[in-house]
Amino acid sequence: MRVVVLTGAGISAESGVPTFRDADGLWEGHRVEDVATPEAYAAQPAVVHRFYDARRAALAGVEPNPAHRALARLEEHLGDDLLVVTQNIDDLHERAGSTRVLHMHGELLSALCRACEGRVRWAGDLGDFPDCPSCGVSALRPDVVWFGEIPYQMDRIQEALERADLFVSIGTSGAVYPAAGFVQYASGHGVRTLELNLQPSEVSRLFHEARQGLAGELVPVWVEEVLAGG
Ligand code: APR
Repeated sequence: MRVVVLTGAGISAESGVPTFRDADGLWEGHRVEDVATPEAYAAQPAVVHRFYDARRAALAGVEPNPAHRALARLEEHLGDDLLVVTQNIDDLHERAGSTRVLHMHGELLSALCRACEGRVRWAGDLGDFPDCPSCGVSALRPDVVWFGEIPYQMDRIQEALERADLFVSIGTSGAVYPAAGFVQYASGHGVRTLELNLQPSEVSRLFHEARQGLAGELVPVWVEEVLAGG
């Protein structure tokens, strides 16, 4: 069975990573949409760097939860037949043991050089405007996809959705496209669809089945069902 899983901020919530659109979704009075844009970066690079530097530093204090671990367990069984597409920029899927993960909105632990367009693994701050290790120019930005930019790896994701037997969306509000459109794309290709989310998302009605609850509880149960052949 080929499975594509889409994850959003809700899967990392029980690890202590704040979501974007729940009650605590503000950062120092900024809406995420006001910080996560190329325009915000052009106008106030230090503010934008501070936002991402804080999120990168916070990774040290969080751990994967049972939902991340259950998906890693599923990959042990399905191998290449499982693809995890995440909108999250944290590294909790990888730390749980998943290896087939596409970060469609980029990664906190990567920096992108605007001068040489190279990528470099980056665990420290960018707010002090360090030089790019490849070209020496001080032009590193977070390797994340901002509003108005094109998500990464869309061709691979579409191809995987077309070939899947099952599409499962976990912990995402369905407010941000193109990810919010994956359910329609999948069902248009005859793929069964399942949503696992704390509350009905903006696109819940488009799924064949939607279950409500904590990801840390729903995902291990669903993975056990798959492993039992259900
Ligand atoms: N278990 C399951 N679902 C949860 C949990 C939990 N413990 N906690 C919260 N949720 C659900 C919320 O009900 C909400 O529907 O997760 C969803 C999180 O939604 P958002 O905060 O909008 O996060 P996400 O959908 O990942 O955002 C998409 O928006 O700002 C951009 O680029 C950013 O990737 C992000 C994108």
